[in-house]
Amino acid sequence: MRTDPESFVRANTGILMPPHVPEIRLHLASEAHELWLKTEEELEQIGLPPPFWAFAWAGGQGLARFILDHPETVRGRRVVDFASGSGLVAIAAKMAGADEVVAADIDPWCETAARLNAELNGVSLAFAAADIVGSERAADVYLAGDVFYDKSFAALLLPWFDALERAGAVVLVGDPGRAYCPRERMTPLATYEVPVTRALEDCEVKRTTVWRFGQAAS
Ligand SMILES: C[S@@+](CC[C@H](N)C(=O)[O-])C[C@H]1O[C@@H](n2cnc3c(N)ncnc32)[C@H](O)[C@@H]1O
Repeated sequence: MRTDPESFVRANTGILMPPHVPEIRLHLASEAHELWLKTEEELEQIGLPPPFWAFAWAGGQGLARFILDHPETVRGRRVVDFASGSGLVAIAAKMAGADEVVAADIDPWCETAARLNAELNGVSLAFAAADIVGSERAADVYLAGDVFYDKSFAALLLPWFDALERAGAVVLVGDPGRAYCPRERMTPLATYEVPVTRALEDCEVKRTTVWRFGQAAS
């Protein structure tokens, strides 16, 4: 049986504050919600990809913290929050004064989650469901929270981020030490200790760095 996405998100999450970005409220899953306990097979049966949108990943929390603390990074700029998930980083960018923010994610459930989360925080976002990896520069700033968890995904992102940066965009990455993070290609801007959930990350705090892709930070 297919559920309407909005009812599903509301029924399977609670309104929580990501611990490192308490200014923002999100519909998130916790141990209290059944979604937390479902296996990938059970999720597939109800037509749901792994619910990345139901968690505030460490990379996204670090990047959102950086944006709120350094609003000049996005103020008045066109911003893309790539691989947006819950929309956390996009919401931070809008709150920090970005001119327009597009949350981009290929998981269609993210559109509903990001819209509901934006509403909770009194901002509005555009959403791009198309796969924009490899597309030409269409914004001033690209934000990417927690995207280097998969080898083949990382291999697609590297040349794209490189091309965006060469075309004049600023590309900022929030990464909690994922295996495929290309640290040698980036400049660190800030490091945070981000509280996370043991059930997801097998630890309670993830050291998370915000990086600028490519050239040294000015
Ligand atoms: C670990 S989550 C990070 C979500 C969010 N940025 C955060 O930090 O909380 C990774 C996200 O990447 C998205 N993703 C995977 N491949 C993608 C692609 N080709 N284009 C856009 N998003 C993609 C997934 O759907 C998922 O929402």
